[in-house]
Amino acid sequence: MSLRAPLRTLGKNGPSVPPLGFGLMGLSGFYGTPPNDEERFQLLDRAVELGETFWDTSNIYGDNEELLCKWFKRTGKRNEIFLATKFGIAMENGKFTGVNSSAEYCKTACAESLKRLGVDYVDLYYVHRVDSETPIEETMRAMADLQAEGKIKYIGLSEVSSTTLRRACKIAPVSVVQMEYSPFVLDIEKARGTNLLQTCRKLGVAVVCYSPLGRGILTSSFTSRDAFKGEGDMRAITFPRFSEENFDANAKLVSQFGALAAKKDCTVSQLALAWLLKQGDDIFPIPGTKKITYLEQNWASKDVKLTDSEEQEIRGFVEKAELALSGYRSMPQGRATISSMDAPLIVVVGALGAQGGSVVSAYLASQKSENFRIRALTSNSSSDAALSLATKPRVTVVGVDLDSPESLAAAFQDANFIFANTIFPPETLITKGGVAAQELEARRGLNVAQATSKIPSLQHLVWSTLPDALRITNGKYAIPHFQSKIPAELYLSDPKNGMDSKTTYLHVGLYGSNLERPPYLPIYTPVANKYVITLPCSPNAIIPFIGDEKLNVGLIVEAIFSQPEKTRGQSVVGASEYISGADWALALSKALHWKKTPTTEAVFVETTQESYKALWGDHIGAEIGIMFAYFDELQEKSFGSSSVMTPADLGIQESLRSTEQRLKDINWETILA
Ligand SMILES: NC(=O)c1ccc[n+]([C@@H]2O[C@H](COP(=O)([O-])OP(=O)(O)OC[C@H]3O[C@@H](n4cnc5c(N)ncnc54)[C@H](OP(=O)(O)O)[C@@H]3O)[C@@H](O)[C@H]2O)c1
Repeated sequence: MSLRAPLRTLGKNGPSVPPLGFGLMGLSGFYGTPPNDEERFQLLDRAVELGETFWDTSNIYGDNEELLCKWFKRTGKRNEIFLATKFGIAMENGKFTGVNSSAEYCKTACAESLKRLGVDYVDLYYVHRVDSETPIEETMRAMADLQAEGKIKYIGLSEVSSTTLRRACKIAPVSVVQMEYSPFVLDIEKARGTNLLQTCRKLGVAVVCYSPLGRGILTSSFTSRDAFKGEGDMRAITFPRFSEENFDANAKLVSQFGALAAKKDCTVSQLALAWLLKQGDDIFPIPGTKKITYLEQNWASKDVKLTDSEEQEIRGFVEKAELALSGYRSMPQGRATISSMDAPLIVVVGALGAQGGSVVSAYLASQKSENFRIRALTSNSSSDAALSLATKPRVTVVGVDLDSPESLAAAFQDANFIFANTIFPPETLITKGGVAAQELEARRGLNVAQATSKIPSLQHLVWSTLPDALRITNGKYAIPHFQSKIPAELYLSDPKNGMDSKTTYLHVGLYGSNLERPPYLPIYTPVANKYVITLPCSPNAIIPFIGDEKLNVGLIVEAIFSQPEKTRGQSVVGASEYISGADWALALSKALHWKKTPTTEAVFVETTQESYKALWGDHIGAEIGIMFAYFDELQEKSFGSSSVMTPADLGIQESLRSTEQRLKDINWETILA
């Protein structure tokens, strides 16, 4: 065994450090009774002899920092160590009291760690956990201050999402992200782990892998549960991977590592560490141990060389097992020991759109819902809007591709509640017409619906849809942007797909704010000095309106999710009111008067289908025209019969904001100028 190992660069333009670090947590408890000081000093001495000088501690690892202080004093070897510590998890008298990544705590905790360690600086300072209140920008500015003051050399983050990392890198360079990564926990490679590995690589951030031996699973000790339940060992009671229920399946998985390790004449832990080292020069495992023999064995794993096919074979053990073990082996329970990861998770499709945005806002505003975690899905998670949404507490923004079942499966993973809405793609409508747009939305909707049915944790889905006008009118009215929702609805309501009893079908009415844009934008007629709303329906046609869509959709969805017994398997009308086109014009008039300028009236003018089509063209004119013809004929039955629930049935009619109120929010002066 060669002692020294070629150094690796820790992050873009970073320092050179050994490929394997040393995790010191177990030296102060957590995984059994710690050894005495003399034994711990010998272990640290041996690590230096070997060249394993990249040490990982934290301000919450028991007496770790004090121990290091004593060892530095005793040996005078502070400068031989690349020392990393962390802050962010608050403890009092050994008990977890919360997560705190505020700038103030960052600076206080750093000063306290330097004092406890008896050093002037640490080489790497991590934000151990990011709290849900402090914007990462604030934390990063504090870290950059510490760096400028020479108290820390490099910045690291632990347990963050890709979005948080991207935001952090905009403030100051992040050298390292520390996450659980081992052949047993592959989450950072996948969408369910926000593709963090890929993001790190794009940004030139190194990955330090904590618990690279799966907290002891990927070792030859994993033969009996008793090995993990001794005095001071929290594993059997804390981590589901060690539970009675999961032990056998995991033992079977580890036995496959054992067979390959025997063939390679190495140990299971060496195989696991060699596998990690083979993932790239940007990967730094930091195994922890209390024993010199294990330390030497782990260090020697740098000399275990895996072929590509062995690397794949190991990945295969886990990926095959994942199918059987998913849901309890790793995220969220198996990984997050201290965080709000156990709060129910609501996943919102189209979170930056009108409806999804309304749902996210409702859950952020409501005290009732403050224990929910929100996973906001968007097609572009790097947009300014997405980055801004990601600054909100309890929100994780995740990119999703509605054309990809794999992407949807990952985005829905572990969801307890899903709100899903797809849009009738406007560009396709304009360029290719209603039928093409219908086909595209229908395909995406079906992908989403099918993906929801494969999520075992899902309790309740709210599906934003529209009436099956074609069926209701026996084939008379085919409204493409209504029919595009139907294949998904048929899938969900088919009992054999197991979703009907979990789904509420929400029929969302017209947005009052549609008047802001074509084809609804009122047209000014100088002769009459009036704004004209032209629609191909009678002035008395009864039309369902959602009113203030920004507020009301979220209120209705929240009311649905909070009354599951009443709403699952039911349809709900998403409308604050039924009003006619003439009333819509009246509401606009009131909004215009309310703003004082201009004081001109708005009026409703009925037109024919042909003239409407001539005005707005074959695609949009035909599409919108036929919808109003449907409203005209069906009147109050357009959104379903008496069996359909209303906001009044949910007890929230009084809280909804009307179309007239919504129109008052709009800056008509600019729009109608
Ligand atoms: N950022 C974070 O949130 C976070 C979370 C957890 C851990 N960490 C860091 O990551 C470090 C490593 O993670 P970890 O300690 O949780 O887990 P780990 O390194 O995956 O596993 C440690 C366990 O494996 C056993 N072990 C180690 N080498 C072995 C060998 N060669 N043969 C048999 N058993 C062996 C140890 O036994 P003995 O104890 O008997 O030696 C210990 O029980 C920690 O020390 C800490 O610095 C960070």
